[in-house]
Amino acid sequence: MKKVLKSTVIHLITAARPNFMKVAPLYHSLIKEQWCRPMMVHTGQHYDVNMSDTFLSDMLLPNPDIYLNVGSGTHAEQTARVMTAYEKVCFQSMPDWVIVVGDVNSTMACAITAKKLCLPVAHLEAGLRSGDRTMPEEINRIVTDTIADLLWTPSHDADANLLREGIAAEKIKRVGNIMIDSYEMMLSVIEKENVPAELGVDKHQYGVLTLHRPSNVDDQEVLRNIVDSLIETSKMLPLIFPVHPRTKNHLKENNLLNKILVSSRINIIEPLGYIKFMSLVKNAKLVITDSGGIQEETTYLNIPCLTLRNTTERPITLTHGTNKLVNTKNIIHYVRKIIEGQWQNTVCPEYWDGKTAFRIVESLKTVIGR
Ligand code: UD1
Repeated sequence: MKKVLKSTVIHLITAARPNFMKVAPLYHSLIKEQWCRPMMVHTGQHYDVNMSDTFLSDMLLPNPDIYLNVGSGTHAEQTARVMTAYEKVCFQSMPDWVIVVGDVNSTMACAITAKKLCLPVAHLEAGLRSGDRTMPEEINRIVTDTIADLLWTPSHDADANLLREGIAAEKIKRVGNIMIDSYEMMLSVIEKENVPAELGVDKHQYGVLTLHRPSNVDDQEVLRNIVDSLIETSKMLPLIFPVHPRTKNHLKENNLLNKILVSSRINIIEPLGYIKFMSLVKNAKLVITDSGGIQEETTYLNIPCLTLRNTTERPITLTHGTNKLVNTKNIIHYVRKIIEGQWQNTVCPEYWDGKTAFRIVESLKTVIGR
């Protein structure tokens, strides 16, 4: 009699805005495979429609199979709520594999929960390090990578970080940058959009601004300085600012929202879904950000990127791409250089080719023995 193998149940953990687009190409690849059953687990760390649902529908993802509804809180509260809720899910029905992505609180929380139940864990986007342990994301990265069984890295610097930290070489597999798969997967849809026209700006005549890191928006003085420098910057180039909810709250609390509205050429809009956001970035003159993923997307698109941070966990965007770390004092200097056309072009890093999901599925099949 022919032996029928049971489907391998794989939990794909999603939680916050950047997770949805990273999981999408992988979900769409896994769902085509006969040997496995991918299940979407959404922790609910991000819950506003334009921080979560829009991304699911933009990336053609189904409603989550499991929703944990954890919401906001302090880091400890949020992490604990994810762990408690996810453990219950696992007790009800143990998955065969758990895949976590990126560096958000839910990534670490689900990795810890799964490992304490002795479940195998794979980390997608492993090995990135900023070297700055005051960032919550850096703690999440280190903890997740330390306990994961399989570490899928985007670039050679990530491999080197893991090896330096004593992670066994056989656990590390360089697969490339999954965000490029997401972009290539949705490119034809992105190209049908014309968000600059909807917002009344000409292509390549505006900058895109995003800001949400605690180090930039939580401290009143720091945020005030940033706002002042951005108001100055906007005199050279109008800026479109899809504002993250945490940033909007801090701008309001510090009476800075109104200051921006009345004294600058900064157009504050609601957070955009993936398709519309990429339409905006693709046609921009430059991007000013403190996000991780946008540093990579701009490198791939060869759009100049100014990152308002002292460190980056994505140094390859500095060495191979269009990215530059800036501060409130030198940002205007660099904006001027970009406007004058003096900027470095991208040399596309290896495996940033839209085939990362394929390599991940192959890696998983090898490890599972399928
Ligand atoms: C999180 C991630 C960060 C990622 C970012 C992308 C951590 C530690 N940080 O930061 O790595 O780059 O998501 O957006 O996991 N809020 C809402 N609605 C939402 C979500 C958040 O209003 O849908 C507000 C709440 O006031 C909340 C605050 O934003 O307290 C922070 O949300 P949280 O998920 O804790 O972290 P982010 O700043 O979004």
